[in-house]
Amino acid sequence: MLSYIIQGGNKLNGKVSASGSKNAALPIIATAILNKEPVTLYNIPDIEDTKITLEILKILGCKIVRNSDKITICSKTMNKTSIPKELMHKLRSTVVLAGAIIGRFKEATFSYPGGCNIGARPIDIHLDSFKKLGISIDEKDDCIHCKCKDIIGKRIKLKFPSVGATENIILASVYAKGATHITNAAKEPEIKDLAKCLNSMGAKIYGAGTSEITIFGVKKLHKTEYKIMSDRIETGTLLGAVAAVGGSITVENTNPENLLTVLYSFKEMGCKISINRDKISLKAPEKIKCINISTEPYPGFPTDMQPIMGAILTKAEGKSEIVENIFENRFKYTEELVRMGANINQKDKTLEIVGVDKLEGKDVMSKDLRGGAALVIAGLMSEGITKVENIEYILRGYENLDLKLKSLGANIKIKEEKVV
Ligand code: UD1
Repeated sequence: MLSYIIQGGNKLNGKVSASGSKNAALPIIATAILNKEPVTLYNIPDIEDTKITLEILKILGCKIVRNSDKITICSKTMNKTSIPKELMHKLRSTVVLAGAIIGRFKEATFSYPGGCNIGARPIDIHLDSFKKLGISIDEKDDCIHCKCKDIIGKRIKLKFPSVGATENIILASVYAKGATHITNAAKEPEIKDLAKCLNSMGAKIYGAGTSEITIFGVKKLHKTEYKIMSDRIETGTLLGAVAAVGGSITVENTNPENLLTVLYSFKEMGCKISINRDKISLKAPEKIKCINISTEPYPGFPTDMQPIMGAILTKAEGKSEIVENIFENRFKYTEELVRMGANINQKDKTLEIVGVDKLEGKDVMSKDLRGGAALVIAGLMSEGITKVENIEYILRGYENLDLKLKSLGANIKIKEEKVV
């Protein structure tokens, strides 16, 4: 078992570079399944989630060459259409591989995806959309088998702008007969990035980044080289760590436009923010001010930043309120914050956080990816030593988080313990 050991109290100062986006990398890796020509991707973060996704592609028969953050995937030799259950259970976003596999082979077998336990996370919107595209779905013993003669472009109205379902429809529709038109599509920047990558190999996708996306089916794709966008949630987490403990930071190689609501919240907290092309600088105030946050689909406040803000606000001046509208089980990290001395009350989907003067270092357990990162920030804010256990969750989504924080002056190290 891996843990972070954190000695809190240090202010953080300096520059760090944002890594490639986890949430963009996963569906973009899936594009290589659709394309029989080589797909070369840059800026792929070296994290557990991308490793698992690439492992699945290898098992399905793809050839992969990795050289640091550049990978070339060749799926010409791909000969399997069934995603292994064990790997599917490790990671929720493996579900988008299904859209790509059906798109290319007209059949796919997979099971219900795993991933962070932050809510029920059904995939009904994905499956209903597949059905609309003419794909038949047979569910047996936790196994979902999809098959079709042809994918037929259709008008699909999503009941909720699901990120994963929007990505899955795009991937499944690239080779469709006719055009697919999605309304109430998710508008997240990662969807724009997916469409940009697919268009760079010859797909015809219009409107990505808005709530209406049209995909005109094409007959084939050609080879491409594509650089994945920077990780907006990692950027927000690093800025948040400095807002929480004091100091100043510049995050380079990022995209400020993708983080506007979050930057506005940091400003409301009293931080000084400056933006210069692909750089964001933040200077923390002496004392953070209380604020209210309500998570919404993009361009609203991102649910993935909610736990990070929850940690920062434990020491704010006054009472803050956080409403979580996307996932129903995303407050588990707060139990650990309370053990560290935070004053937090949860009523349904709302947290009331009354700022306290100090947090105390404790042994705490990471229960999901962003909640785990929130505990790291709480550890940096605390007096004494915090041990964040079960950091495997955090390693799934953050590339070298400990090293980046260390370079800013944090006292943090990884400890490995054998479980007997
Ligand atoms: C993606 C992100 C995740 C982020 C989330 C919301 C990836 C790999 N993950 O997750 O980090 O927190 O978007 O911005 O990109 N829902 C249904 N039925 C479905 C699909 C979703 O009811 O078929 C519900 C979910 O339970 C949830 C909400 O819709 O309450 C949002 O889910 P969705 O947008 O699909 O999130 P993910 O794609 O899983």
